[in-house]
Amino acid sequence: MKPRIVILISGRGSNMAALLAASLPLEIAAVISNRPGAAGLALATAQGIAAEVVDHQAHATRETFDQALAEAIDRHQPQLVVLAGFMRILTPAFIRHYQGRLLNIHPSLLPAFPGLHTHRQALQAGVRIHGCTVHFVTEQLDHGPIVAQAAVPVLPDDTEETLAARVLESEHRIYPEALRWWAEGRLTLRDDGRVGVQGAAFPQGALRVPGAAA
Ligand code: GAR
Repeated sequence: MKPRIVILISGRGSNMAALLAASLPLEIAAVISNRPGAAGLALATAQGIAAEVVDHQAHATRETFDQALAEAIDRHQPQLVVLAGFMRILTPAFIRHYQGRLLNIHPSLLPAFPGLHTHRQALQAGVRIHGCTVHFVTEQLDHGPIVAQAAVPVLPDDTEETLAARVLESEHRIYPEALRWWAEGRLTLRDDGRVGVQGAAFPQGALRVPGAAA
């Protein structure tokens, strides 16, 4: 039987769409958004995937929202919960509940530039290399064992928008790849807190670099 995942989104849903398009050897049981107007919901519905809303604005506290969210997720009994542009800070209780089963994509080369406005942060810092990271979620925001990273050059004329677009292209490559490894049972969370990737096409820490062969 194929392993089952639930995808959490908050908006556009382009990473979710990349996962849907990748024909991964897994079942996407549902897509859940914390925003009723998230564009990604319609995209999921159009592909025959159950799309649900757990509206954070209907909850007075993070704790009750996270509880409602966990209940909605657990009805689908997923083996993995995949954050794809899910823009809520999660409570420690929620994160502990999904320990080792919660994956995120972040638009920077972590541990650089956690939080919001990562492309602005990168431009302000003057870095020449930026990128994105797929990682397991831990209680420390935008930290946790790294599964894959893609490096993206910062060009002299880049604006936040052009840089974001270049990074997003890489996100759409590494997230499906990381999910494929997971679905094929090739990811191990090692005792030292790092992630092992068995037999990846680019196994050296699962790093993608511009111009390098896949
Ligand atoms: C993506 O760039 C994703 O990495 C980022 O939000 C965007 C969502 O786009 N996530 C975070 O910043 C999480 N901290 P999408 O809805 O089109 O996938």
